[in-house]
Amino acid sequence: MNANKRPVAVLPNFPASTAYATDRGLMLHGLAEDVLKHQDLDAIRGRVQLIFTSPPFPLNTKKKYGNLQGEEYLQWLTSFGPLFRELLTPDGSIVIELGNSWEPGLPTMSTLGLKALLRFQEENNLHLCQEFICHNPARLPSPAQWVTIERIRLKDSFTRLWWLSPSSRPKANNKNVLKEYSVAMQRLLKTKQFNSGKRPSEHHISEEAFAVDHGGAIPPNVLSISNTRANDPYQEYCRENDIGFHPARMPIDLPEFFINFLTDADDIVLDPFGGSNTTGAAAEKLNRYWVAVEPTPHYIKGSLGRFNRDRVQIIDNDLLPAGDEVES
Ligand SMILES: C[S@@+](CC[C@H](N)C(=O)[O-])C[C@H]1O[C@@H](n2cnc3c(N)ncnc32)[C@H](O)[C@@H]1O
Repeated sequence: MNANKRPVAVLPNFPASTAYATDRGLMLHGLAEDVLKHQDLDAIRGRVQLIFTSPPFPLNTKKKYGNLQGEEYLQWLTSFGPLFRELLTPDGSIVIELGNSWEPGLPTMSTLGLKALLRFQEENNLHLCQEFICHNPARLPSPAQWVTIERIRLKDSFTRLWWLSPSSRPKANNKNVLKEYSVAMQRLLKTKQFNSGKRPSEHHISEEAFAVDHGGAIPPNVLSISNTRANDPYQEYCRENDIGFHPARMPIDLPEFFINFLTDADDIVLDPFGGSNTTGAAAEKLNRYWVAVEPTPHYIKGSLGRFNRDRVQIIDNDLLPAGDEVES
């Protein structure tokens, strides 16, 4: 461990669990339940603006990273509530992504993910600010047995995100996530010709409703994000260093959307179940500070591929691909 390097602004000193650091963030090695409780992290308690995370899914079949199942999973996820609350600013947010899971051997869905979100929200006394769906139009058909072989189900192509907060009015600004206007809307803004008055939906459209250009359209809570990039720097780095890809990494557009929506530059973003550190990479790109936690060394090793290596300080050489050590 090299402890003599320059600490980052997010914490005054490197926690003992630090794997690597950038100017804006820290990748910590260990279980979130241990690492986040440690006094090394006291300096960020009450300062985290956004906890954005995709926890291990409550799978009914074991995946590579040993997920808990059933009631044990519900209790485990719920137990993070007090810890997360302690880390958040008073107007901070928690965004949790959970995918769908299926009953083993049956063409029926497990409700465990929904129960987990509900239990986490209720027992930790959090407001559900909004639910989001992340639709991946390019998702391969699955579960294969029911979708492509027996043809009795449709392809499962979305994950669910719950935006929670101790406050009913956490910091948020939808002006930071505006979408480009549709061609029809652009035309309308140009011509300023539309029918005002009452619509069949009971909405009242004022005479100015579509006359003002607000810089873009307010996005819906169904996000459409494809995870199709076959050759990004992360994958290249993993291939070059013979590191297996993380099996459940998310598209970087997803954390980017929520970081833009719920934080400002220099706010702190935490991902307690960091995986390949997509959240850290998004936060770094958007000039936020970040902290990520991950217990699996080869996911940490692969996650280095998301950063400009000249900007990374390696703290724990054991977490580097072979032959890539730096002098301590
Ligand atoms: C769904 S994946 C996260 C993927 C990540 N969002 C990405 O884009 O790469 C969940 C991660 O949680 C990690 N994990 C499992 N148990 C953990 C624990 N107790 N503390 C911290 N991380 C844990 C797993 O190793 C896995 O990498």
